[in-house]
Amino acid sequence: MNRLRLHTLAPHLGDEEDDTGVSRPLVAPIYQTSAFSFDDLETADQVQSGTKAGYIYSRMGNPTIARLEQALAQCEGAEDALVTASGMAAITASMLSLVRPGERILAGHELYGGTTGLLKLMGDFGIMVDYVDTSQMESVSSSLNEKTRLVLAETITNPRVAVADVARLASCAHAAGAYLMVDNTFATPYHCQPLAQGADLVVHSLTKFIGGHGDLTGGVCLGRSEIMDSIRSNATLLGAAPDPFAAWLTLRGMKTLALRMEKSSANALYLAERLRTHSAVEEVYYPGLTAHPTHDVARRTLNRGFGAMFSLRLKGGTRAAQALVERSRLVRFVPSLGDVATTLSYPLTTSHRGLSAHEQVQLGITGGLIRISTGIEDPRDLWDDLLGALDAED
Ligand SMILES: Cc1ncc(COP(=O)(O)O)c(C=O)c1O
Repeated sequence: MNRLRLHTLAPHLGDEEDDTGVSRPLVAPIYQTSAFSFDDLETADQVQSGTKAGYIYSRMGNPTIARLEQALAQCEGAEDALVTASGMAAITASMLSLVRPGERILAGHELYGGTTGLLKLMGDFGIMVDYVDTSQMESVSSSLNEKTRLVLAETITNPRVAVADVARLASCAHAAGAYLMVDNTFATPYHCQPLAQGADLVVHSLTKFIGGHGDLTGGVCLGRSEIMDSIRSNATLLGAAPDPFAAWLTLRGMKTLALRMEKSSANALYLAERLRTHSAVEEVYYPGLTAHPTHDVARRTLNRGFGAMFSLRLKGGTRAAQALVERSRLVRFVPSLGDVATTLSYPLTTSHRGLSAHEQVQLGITGGLIRISTGIEDPRDLWDDLLGALDAED
């Protein structure tokens, strides 16, 4: 069969392949078990040593989790995938596998606050970390040195949604002998497949758009088998495995990934264009707007639109942000993103609260900044809700 397009592939992800008799289940069953039993010592030994296929203990591997790993690898065009209990667990396992004490990570200066916190922790274990604006390629090139083992960027940054030039970043990193790891959480494989653009490793928080329904926590690392083997064995030791039920829910959510992203991105563009001209709004950050500093990069890096995340800066600062949160009825304040329902977040006191005041100001994370994750509603109702909340403030 020809390679299927994502809209066709997604509803079939995780389809049951095993013949269980005269019929097959429509939906893959959950193996909600912590361990597996054996009839003899020899078989258990063969499975443990890898000479026979099978499962031993769910922290080391589980059929439901494996099915999700295959589905994610298909979507991202990866040789191998490892699913973890959260996005942070995926990032931790990747960093600890790729970088040794004395080596250096060159990280984007605008990352999810939890990732920045983790990088600070890495410093305590002798891993050097420096930050660079990954949209400035000259700065990236001049910041790389022989100790740099890993370059870390987000496809679309959090919260000002700058798009990384993944192909150019990969060339720069490789020229310096470093790996490029991309957090593709905001873009999802619907908009971007960083491995095809040269990245060595992709990570996601599955908690967001891939799960899509706000009912699970998960993460994934994806890449070449040669890299993934060490990440998998380290993640097993770290205890990063997800619960099989969360893996099953993720598979279910993924069946509508393409449909959800198509609608959510269209809604983001609809709202961003309208909010841009509202008198209470100082600036809207959305890569789909021609005025966005990375609009041209976004056209090269992203497919099928510009994503479902945008931010806006309110002229009235903290007071205006508070009024918007209190007055919007449909768009609820939720310190997360990527759900079927549109939500808003307040980076200053949620995702980026761990940064110093200086770091927050440098990234433009101030009192008036609101981040919006668009869902799949009718955008006219979303606009009415936001307009009602903003106009009440005028
Ligand atoms: C871009 C990005 N990466 C990683 C994470 C961490 O994911 P999790 O909360 O699933 O650990 C988040 C969480 O918000 C995120 O926004």
